Amino acid sequence: MTTTVEELYGDFWGRVDPEFQEAFGTSLKPRGADMLYDVFAGFGVGTDDTVLDAGCRDAIYAVELVRRFGCRAVAIDPVPLHIERAHRRVAEAGLADRITVHQAGMEDMPIESGSIAAIWCRDVLNHVNLPASLAECHRVLVPGGRMLVYQTFATDKMELREAARLYTALAMVPENMSPTTFEGTARQVGFVIEQRDPIDSEWRERWIEDGDHQMLEDLLQVARMRRREEDLVQRFGRERYEAELAGAVWGIYQMLGKLCPTVYVLRKPGE
Ligand SMILES: C[S@@+](CC[C@H](N)C(=O)[O-])C[C@H]1O[C@@H](n2cnc3c(N)ncnc32)[C@H](O)[C@@H]1O
Repeated sequence: MTTTVEELYGDFWGRVDPEFQEAFGTSLKPRGADMLYDVFAGFGVGTDDTVLDAGCRDAIYAVELVRRFGCRAVAIDPVPLHIERAHRRVAEAGLADRITVHQAGMEDMPIESGSIAAIWCRDVLNHVNLPASLAECHRVLVPGGRMLVYQTFATDKMELREAARLYTALAMVPENMSPTTFEGTARQVGFVIEQRDPIDSEWRERWIEDGDHQMLEDLLQVARMRRREEDLVQRFGRERYEAELAGAVWGIYQMLGKLCPTVYVLRKPGE
């Protein structure tokens, strides 16, 4: 049904409607990113356990997990720059005796079977060979061990052309953007899906409500890049341009409901 101009200016926008203003102007009490630690705490990891941070970047989370739970950690990532930074961060934290860092992809990890009590996998699975990576995670876990997955999926609000542009720019495997594919693959390699918790735009709302202006910076970047596309592409190359633009729209797409970050808890059956 099309809105008439009388409705638009007379009814909807013509008068202040306190009830409606309150309906969308009130915080929905969004959860923050720290919720991942609460989920992980439920895995009951202790000082004798070793956890895996799969796709660790600079090991910031591996260090935090060891500090919080007193466990040991193995941190893996395939990017040499990340490994260099991870070694530095672990050394600076004085945790070189508790955290081992390996340059490796999740598809083939230099880790003994059944040696890992729990896995932390935050924002990584968009990039990987999913069947091989989840099978490896299943292999290295102890029976009864759990895997926390934080992963962003596409929703039906994502248009095909914008999806293709985003995934190409961000080195993502298109099939991995589907929750159905993810769940099917997890079950296929032997995991039980214990929990599925769509975060949607909660973390982003929380950051804004707490006064973080990054989303506005991202919008400004998108606008500037859009208006200078030709020049920027000529100077820095198409791939670089697309990656920077896609990085800036990532959070905006979450706010628009085109991307839905989701937390899963997977369990390896046994014990
Ligand atoms: C968006 S970052 C997330 C990093 C970190 N887990 C975090 O939450 O901040 C994605 C990470 O996945 C890593 N990555 C890419 N392909 C991978 C693979 N096949 N196996 C493991 N990690 C991978 C990247 O190097 C990068 O560190």
